[in-house]
This record gives sequence, structure tokens and C-alpha cells, in this order.
Amino acid sequence: MEKIVALCKRRGFVYPNSEIYGGNQGFYDFGPLGVEMKNNLKRLWWKWMTVEHENIVGIDGAIITHPRVWEASGHIKSFTDPLVECKACHHRFRADDLAEKKCPDCGGELTEPRNYNILMETSLGVIEGEKTKAYLRGEACQTIYLDFKNVLQSTRLKIPFGICQIGKAFRNEITPGNFLFRQREFEQWDLQWFCHPRQMEEYFEFWKKERMNWYRSLFTHPEKLVFYEHQKLAHYAKRAYDIQYSDSPFDGKEIEGIHWRGDWDLSRHGEFSKQDLSYTDPETKEHFIPNIVETSGGVDRTFLFLLIDSYTEEKERIVLRLHPLVAPFKVAVFPLLANKQDLVQKAKQVFLSLKSEIAVTFDDRGNIGKRYYSQDEIGTPWCVTIDYQTLDDNTVTVRDRDTTKQERISIDKLRDFFKNKLTAI
Ligand code: GAP
Repeated sequence: MEKIVALCKRRGFVYPNSEIYGGNQGFYDFGPLGVEMKNNLKRLWWKWMTVEHENIVGIDGAIITHPRVWEASGHIKSFTDPLVECKACHHRFRADDLAEKKCPDCGGELTEPRNYNILMETSLGVIEGEKTKAYLRGEACQTIYLDFKNVLQSTRLKIPFGICQIGKAFRNEITPGNFLFRQREFEQWDLQWFCHPRQMEEYFEFWKKERMNWYRSLFTHPEKLVFYEHQKLAHYAKRAYDIQYSDSPFDGKEIEGIHWRGDWDLSRHGEFSKQDLSYTDPETKEHFIPNIVETSGGVDRTFLFLLIDSYTEEKERIVLRLHPLVAPFKVAVFPLLANKQDLVQKAKQVFLSLKSEIAVTFDDRGNIGKRYYSQDEIGTPWCVTIDYQTLDDNTVTVRDRDTTKQERISIDKLRDFFKNKLTAI
């Protein structure tokens, strides 16, 4: 983990937030490479949800909702973690994170656990004394339930259908830590699948498999992704499975949860808002509260687990064996020598010819070997070198990150060569 955290900062994937002020625990910023990789992930997820499945549409809801939402959702009452405090140093911990019943910092005696609500508060309004307490959303999915009726009325969807969303969530975690794993501000990708209660079993199994297949298609070690069935359930869930990445510092910790939410959400919001959130089947005229299968994953956790999964140390180099569609850059272009104008000029031409269609970078620092290693470390799958032969026959070398093998390709064929590689994946 230390090596990955250091690499993330050194190469511009992830920086600690507010670092010049001493940091801000549980908050991180994504740097130039990190934001590219995160956006690639989000684009892949979004396309998979909305293009490769029928009857799924997206929304982008607000972070702050009416405060009553969190009463209805059960979060004000039940969104708690067990907090213990050291009687000597007063440091606080999540009781379920501790292996022993003593303070990990000073060995002092701990208080009995008490329930600590992790919803993050803010206030709305401009007049002091008349401000209203509101909450930054503790789970992104609530806006989907609030917009359920709007989506139904403004589209031609019929049950079963899904609404998906990628968005920020906020939790006042007692012990944020482990880098991106447990933050106070993070991003979730959620699908809420609305169906007839009779279809719950079928769709719960369907989405479990679909989501596992999706994660497995992106990881270098798909066999490390495993299911875990929850024994202790969240207040809204009747059944739940985690997708976990095993054999890592995060054994037994989830990337995504598949939750059987049943009619909990629409019934509660119907009751608290006094609106009818039931559904009438247009053909059978049957009237019912749609049931929900939720798939809720962490964008940041997926990002972190992909780094752990792809990080490889070899004799002479560090390689991130990232899936090419996830890697921040697909291609790096170099002139063999930085001080030979004709090579540099040709390399710039190649770079510009690829730039509008493929995520490509240019590098002419140091020697060619160092440039290869530098690209391996950020996961760039292919490096193109312009050498003296290029000036004679218009061919370049293309080096593969994983095998380090090189092949010669004509510049005219380069764009199609990479596009074919990326679509074949
Ligand atoms: N709507 C259901 C829900 O929010 P959850 O299991 O609490 O379920 C879903 O969260 C996903 O959000 C988790 O699987 C995890 O990937 C991510 N997540 C939860 N808390 C997080 C935190 N403090 N930091 C980073 N990611 C977090």
C-alpha cells in the first residue's frame, strides 16, 4: 500500500487534500492521471449500464435533498457505526475495526460502544437563527427514489426498468483511512432496478452475476474477485452480497454491494411524502409498490483495487498492468533522440495525428529506456518510437507494455492498429 500511495502522489494519480495546510483526513484529490483513469472507469460503467442493457436510464441528482428524505430513508435513526473512545487519550475508533478491547494508540481502556450517526450535516438559508439543518447525501441512491415517479412519467419505460447514477456521497466516518478505501467524500455508481415483487429472486441473481462479470472483465486477476453473503444487514436490505477483492490488504472488504431492498424505499418515501409511489401495470392493471434490486459500488474503491491488482514489480521496472481501456494514456510517442530535429518533428506529427482520437502523450526526456519505464509505471499499454528507419520507410516501433516485445508498423496504419486493439478488448 505504501508503494502504491507513493506512486499515486509521485505520478499525479491522487494527492492528499489540503496538503499545504497539513491535510484533511478522509479527503483526496485526483491529479492529472488520476482524473483520466477515473473518468475512463465512469465512462465504461455508464456505457455498460445504459447502452449494453435495455431499459436503463440515468439521472444526475443533487447532493442536498429535503431533510425529511433522511428520516424516511431510515438514515437519521439507523445510519450509525459503533464508536468507542479511549478514556486516557480520548482518541475515537470504530469498535468493529478493533481486534482487541484496548486503545490502539496508547493501550488505554475504551468506553462501551455507542451508536454514532455518520450523516454529514450542513445548513441552508441566509438568516442566522433561521437556518435549516440539511444533510449531504449519505448514499447517492436516494435521489433515484425521489425521481422514480418523474422518470416513469417523462419516459416510456415500463416495469421492469432501471435508473442509474454516478455521484458523490458523504459520510462522517469515525476512522477514515487506508487511503481511498474509507473516505468522508467519495463517489458511488448505483443501479436501482425496479421490478414486480415476484421477479425479485430472478433479478437479484441476474444483477449479481452481471456485476461480477463486469468487474472481472476489467481486472488482471479476475479470480481474486469473490462474493460474500452478508450476515449483518443494513436497515434497508433483506439480503445482500458483497463483491470483494481477496488476497490483498483489503481481504473481506467490499467494492460493491448487491442489495435486496424490496419495497422499503418507495414505501417509506410514499408514507413520508404522502405521495403515491405505487405502480399500475398497464396490461394487467395490477397495482403494487415496485421492488428494488440495488447494485451500489464505489468508484474510488474500484480505482484503488485496480491499482492494487495491476501493480507489479519486476527486476528492472514497476508496471501497472491496467486494462488498456482504464489506463490514463493508451499510447506514448517518443523520438529516439531529443536533440535530432528531424526525429522530433516526425514524432510530433505522429503524436498530433493520433491525439484527437486516442489518449496519447509525448515524451522526449531522458533516454529511451527510462521513457519506457516511466510509461510502464503509469500503465501506458503501447509506446511508439520514431527512429532513423522511420525517416527512410515511414515505419515506427510499437512496444507492448506487458511483453516488452516490439513490432514495426507503418505510420499510415497506426491509428487503425490502436483502434482495432482497443475495440477488440
Ligand atoms: N446505497 C447503498 C450503499 O450506499 P454501501 O455498501 O454503504 O451501500 C456502497 O456503499 C459502496 O460505496 C461500497 O461498496 C463502497 O465501495 C463505497 N463506499 C462506502 N463507504 C465508503 C467510504 N467511506 N469511502 C469510500 N467508498 C465507500
